[in-house]
Amino acid sequence: MKLYIETYGCQMNVNDSEVVAAIMIKEGFQLTSDIEEADLVLLNTCSIRENAEDKIWNRLDYLKGLKKRNRNAKIGIIGCMAERLKERLIEEKVVDIVAGPDAYRSLPSLVKQLDTGIKAANVLLSVEETYADIIPVRLDENHVSAFISIMRGCNNFCSYCVVPYTRGVERSRNPESILNEAQDIINKGYKEITLLGQNVNSYNWTTDNDQIINFPKLLEKIALINPNIRIRYTTSHPKDLSDELIYTMAKHDNICKHIHLPAQSGSSRILKLMNRGYTREWYLQRIRKIKEVMPECSISTDIIAGFCSETEEDHHQTLSLMEEVEFDFAFMFKYSERSETYAQKHLKDDVPEEIKLKRLNEIIELQNKLSKKSKIQDINKTLEVLIEGYSKKSKKELNGRTSQNKIVVFPQQNFKIGDYALVKIKDCTSATLIGEALL
Ligand code: SAH
Ligand code: SF4
Ligand code: F3S
Repeated sequence: MKLYIETYGCQMNVNDSEVVAAIMIKEGFQLTSDIEEADLVLLNTCSIRENAEDKIWNRLDYLKGLKKRNRNAKIGIIGCMAERLKERLIEEKVVDIVAGPDAYRSLPSLVKQLDTGIKAANVLLSVEETYADIIPVRLDENHVSAFISIMRGCNNFCSYCVVPYTRGVERSRNPESILNEAQDIINKGYKEITLLGQNVNSYNWTTDNDQIINFPKLLEKIALINPNIRIRYTTSHPKDLSDELIYTMAKHDNICKHIHLPAQSGSSRILKLMNRGYTREWYLQRIRKIKEVMPECSISTDIIAGFCSETEEDHHQTLSLMEEVEFDFAFMFKYSERSETYAQKHLKDDVPEEIKLKRLNEIIELQNKLSKKSKIQDINKTLEVLIEGYSKKSKKELNGRTSQNKIVVFPQQNFKIGDYALVKIKDCTSATLIGEALL
C-alpha cells in the first residue's frame, strides 16, 4: 500500500505528518511522492484562516478526478480542518477518512474499517497525547534541519484563534523523550533542531523527584548535547517571554539569536479585545530587554490587520510599533473570522474588506522597508551560515541561514549542504543576503 501525504499550515503540521508517516510505515505502508500511484492520500490540513480551508476544498475537487482514474484510492483529511469540521467532511463524497490531531494512532484501524465499506472518523481530542514514543520519519529533503514538537495544544484562547479548538488543551511532552529524539536527529546527521509549540514559554514538566523543567531549562539541556548543533524554537508568547529565557539564549552560542514574537497589533485596546494578555508597553519593554541582553538578536512577528472594531488610530499604532521595533521579518494577515471563537461569538467583524486590505497593504509596505533595512545593516559583516540547499536560481549557488534566521545566497566553491560557512555579505534584496564564503 502506498501513502502520499500533503501538508498545509504550520510547522507543527509538518512535524505531525512525520509522526503519521512513522505510524503508517510501521503498518506496512510505503511513502510515495507520486499522488497518482497512491492507495491512500492524506491531506494534513490547516484552519487558521478561511483561505487556508479554501485551498483544501479546491484540492478535494482535484482529488475527485484522481478517484475516477484510480478507483481504489482512498482520501483522508487529517489535521486542524478535520478537527473543526468533523462529520461535515465525511459527508463529502470524496473523503473516506477523517482524523483529528490527537487521533493519528488510530489511522491504521480507520484504514482497515474502510474494508467494511464504512467511512471512518476519529476526531477525539486528548488531554495527554504527545506521541512521545514515536520517532517521526523525517520528510525534509536536505537532512539539515529537523523539528521536534515539545508540546501540543494551546490554552491561551486568543479571541480570534481557532487553534485551541482544533488542537485541544495544552500539554507538555516528557523531556526525556525530547532529548532522545534530539539525539536521534543528531545521530542522523542533522545540524539544526527547531523546538515547536504554540506557546513554548508555557512548557512545563515536573520530574519524578519534583524537579521542575520549564522551557529555558529544556532549551539549555538540548543546547548542551552538542555545541555544533543549532537550536531554534517557535513560538514565544510575549505575555510570558521570561528574562530567564533571554539569558539562556544569550549564554549558548548554538541557540540561534532569533525570536519570533507575534505582536498581532500595536494598540493596547485591540490587544485586550484579542485576549493577548499584554499591552503595547509590555511588548516594547520585552523587546528592549531582548535588545539589551542580545543586541545581535533578530526579531520577527505576526500582525493581524483589521480585527474587530479596529480604527485608523489603532492601525497607526500597529505601524508605529513596527517602526519602533524594526522587525527583521513578519508574517502579515487580514483578520479572518473563525467560527466557535470568542470574537465570532461576541465581537463584530466590522472592518470592511477593502479597509482590511488597505491596512494590510500598508503594513506589508512598511515591513518590506524594515526587512530591507535589516538586511542592509548586515552588508560587510561576516556571518556564519548553515548551508541548507541550492539556491532556487542556480545549482552553482548555495543557500542557508544565519543564526538570525536570515537567508544567505553565495557561490558554492567547495562547500556542501550541511556545512557551516563564514560568508562575507556583499549585497541584499529585501528577502535575501548575498555574499561570498571565506575559504
Ligand atoms: N501560537 C502562535 C501562532 C499560531 S497561528 C502564537 O500565538 O504566536 C499563526 C498566526 O496566525 C498568529 O500569530 C496570527 O497572527 C495569525 N492568525 C491566527 N488566527 C487568525 C485569524 N483568525 N485571522 C487572521 N490571522 C490569524
Ligand atoms: Fe492561537 Fe493565541 Fe494559542 Fe497562538 S497563543 S495558537 S494565537 S490561541
Ligand atoms: Fe493551522 Fe492548525 Fe497549525 S490551524 S496554523 S495547522 S495548529
